[in-house]
Amino acid sequence: MRPEAAPQARVRLDYAGQGYDLNPGESVLEALARQGAPVPFACRAGACHACLLKADAGDPGQAAQRSLKPTLAARGYFLACLARPATDLAIRSGQDVSTPGTLVARRWLSRNVLAIWLRPRRPVSFRAGQSSTSGCTRAAR
Ligand code: FES
Repeated sequence: MRPEAAPQARVRLDYAGQGYDLNPGESVLEALARQGAPVPFACRAGACHACLLKADAGDPGQAAQRSLKPTLAARGYFLACLARPATDLAIRSGQDVSTPGTLVARRWLSRNVLAIWLRPRRPVSFRAGQSSTSGCTRAAR
């Protein structure tokens, strides 16, 4: 007689005050999107950082924080598309580290390259050569 496998503990996500289930093997982003939670995303691969969330309790896992600045990771920020936690998480939006702004112009430089000009709503400190990630949360009218 084969011993039965121990049932996996069910992982729960508390996101913005609502509870969500995480299926085995599922990322936090996949779980939240499957259940209709409004989470921004684009690449689903850890490149764009659009899915940045913050863990107030629980461990999102090292893979979900590897590409973040150490200061963000230390404060609990993580990428939802790479997070496959083994234990419950209490999370909230990570958009408090982003800077809202407005798209003021765009021009195609080639068939595959689009130049955009953004106007941030507050001053942004930067250094030459620094990169940034831009995302759109609402279409302009
Ligand atoms: S969706 Fe792009 S980093 Fe997660």
